[in-house]
Amino acid sequence: MILQARGLVRSYGATPALRGVTLGLAEGEILAVTGPSGCGKSTLIHCLAGILRPDAGEVLYLGQRVDTLSEAARSKLRRGAFGVLFQFGQLVAELTAAENVALPLMLAGTGRREARTAALSWLERLGVAELADQRPGEVSGGQQQRVALARALVTEPRVLFADEPTGALDTLAGEQVLGHLVRLAREQGTTVVLVTHEPRIAGYADRELTLRDGVIDATGMGLTDKAVGA
Ligand SMILES: Nc1ncnc2c1ncn2[C@@H]1O[C@H](COP(=O)(O)OP(=O)(O)OP(=O)(O)O)[C@@H](O)[C@H]1O
Ligand SMILES: [Mg+2]
Repeated sequence: MILQARGLVRSYGATPALRGVTLGLAEGEILAVTGPSGCGKSTLIHCLAGILRPDAGEVLYLGQRVDTLSEAARSKLRRGAFGVLFQFGQLVAELTAAENVALPLMLAGTGRREARTAALSWLERLGVAELADQRPGEVSGGQQQRVALARALVTEPRVLFADEPTGALDTLAGEQVLGHLVRLAREQGTTVVLVTHEPRIAGYADRELTLRDGVIDATGMGLTDKAVGA
């Protein structure tokens, strides 16, 4: 198991969001997390990625606790082994596509030229190389999400967390982004936690897990289970 959660509980004031979630991901596995609005999907992915701390329970990455790490150590993890891709608002408006993608590498200490070369190669792999010098406001939503995906993958994370990365896109643009995400994750052996509203999109995953009212819905489990022994 590369990533595990045990008995995760999280509330916002009096509102319970997670009420005891236990799960594990095998290395290279793509897990889809589905369920109705408000069931706790974002809270779960934020706890797994070390963005939120659970009130109770544990998150382990390669057997090491994540939830007990300091804020600084958790953000270091998100600049290294973890990648995140959210619905929108993640690109820096003032920077070009290439600069946005190069940013995580430069924050990690890579030199400007090397970071730009890597950024251009990832934009190429996502089919948006021609947008390298354009700013987010000058390209379409689907193109922005491909740039955001390049930025999430440029550091070659071992785990990618994606919270409805295509939720703001139309069907075709969404499928294209998802197609790239799944293809590149398979190529790189990246483990993926993918939150989606859409059962159809969950079909790209190895396994689907449905949340209801902050717990895993056992009746919904395994329906799209294509993973062996995961
Ligand atoms: N910042 C917050 N403050 C208060 N309550 C919150 C907050 N964020 C989430 N909640 C509540 O926690 C519960 C779980 O929310 P969460 O965002 O995890 O659901 P979700 O499954 O991601 O929903 P959606 O599909 O709409 O994105 C809901 O009842 C929600 O109203
Ligand atoms: Mg959500």
